[in-house]
Amino acid sequence: MRRALTLTTPIYVAGHTGLVGSACLRLLARRGVSRLITATSAELDLRDRDATREFLRRHNPQVVLAAAARVGGIAANAAAPAEFLSDNLRIQLSLLDAARELRVPRLLFLGSSCVYPRDCPQPIRESALLTGPLEPTNEAYAVAKIAGLVHVRSVRREDGLPWISAMPTNLYGPHDRFDAERAHVLPALLRKFHEAIRSGAGTVEVWGTGRPRREFLHVDDLAAACLTLLERYDDDEPVNVGTGEDLPVADLAKLIAATTGFTGEIRFDPSRPDGTPRKLLDVGRIRALGWRPEIGLEAGLAGTYDWYLRHQEVAV
Ligand SMILES: NC(=O)c1ccc[n+]([C@@H]2O[C@H](COP(=O)([O-])OP(=O)(O)OC[C@H]3O[C@@H](n4cnc5c(N)ncnc54)[C@H](OP(=O)(O)O)[C@@H]3O)[C@@H](O)[C@H]2O)c1
Repeated sequence: MRRALTLTTPIYVAGHTGLVGSACLRLLARRGVSRLITATSAELDLRDRDATREFLRRHNPQVVLAAAARVGGIAANAAAPAEFLSDNLRIQLSLLDAARELRVPRLLFLGSSCVYPRDCPQPIRESALLTGPLEPTNEAYAVAKIAGLVHVRSVRREDGLPWISAMPTNLYGPHDRFDAERAHVLPALLRKFHEAIRSGAGTVEVWGTGRPRREFLHVDDLAAACLTLLERYDDDEPVNVGTGEDLPVADLAKLIAATTGFTGEIRFDPSRPDGTPRKLLDVGRIRALGWRPEIGLEAGLAGTYDWYLRHQEVAV
């Protein structure tokens, strides 16, 4: 590991109960990192600037992994855009301002592939950021995230701190959200198919036409990418993290049906929004750093479904 990330470096994983944060925490613990700093949102509401500053001052992290955010699928974003904008801006401002004030030497901010313009050329390169109009269904969330990316870049330029940003594609894995209101497409479908089997329903309805193409990365692969970036990357531009391969939502639905053992009919509902038609990342930059994904979609789905079956009471 480079000097900024040794086994005794105090690392604050903000958002450690979530999909991304929990995967990063598992990986860091497995690697033997001993000084891991965490707080749930009940213990520290990151929207609270004073409390955040005080927390960082007390724990003095040398690395911050900024994976705390208000996150949701199309339905949640459409229902509460003002909350998605306001909460994410406030979380980012208090965390990044406090880390800047304390001159935290290393910070990794989690952006997202959904903040790229709706119609940008595929596969999407990092340089496509801010080159066109956003997908309207998640505009508020995207604007907040873009502010975070520009915030990181601005601190680099003004203070010379080697902070960086990652742009993950759609993620899935243990500790995902499976509830109908907040889930992204993959966990929402896993749950739908599971419930269809349990209730004996012969049909599962899937939002949209099934035609949009999406890329999916297991969150354990993302966690490994985050550590690669912290160890080896230091530049103004964010870094895409994905598999470099996509598939239509209809094919994903078939794979999930097979994973759960559902043998009934899959029906698409074109009156529901499709979202961005295609979203595939150009992953040349992270590949050049030596990282590559190790968990294929079928194996990843099987593991995620197994986790869901064992944790249904916390996953809903
Ligand atoms: N999920 C994806 O497919 C995906 C794809 C690309 C990028 N990302 C990015 O990855 C990051 C993490 O996403 P995720 O999927 O891991 O989200 P998640 O599973 O919903 O977890 C969110 C985390 O943020 C914490 N949090 C939320 N509001 C907070 C607040 N006010 N104060 C303190 N902590 C707060 C939650 O803590 P509590 O549980 O304690 O409330 C939780 O640990 C986000 O920046 C997201 O944009 C996610």
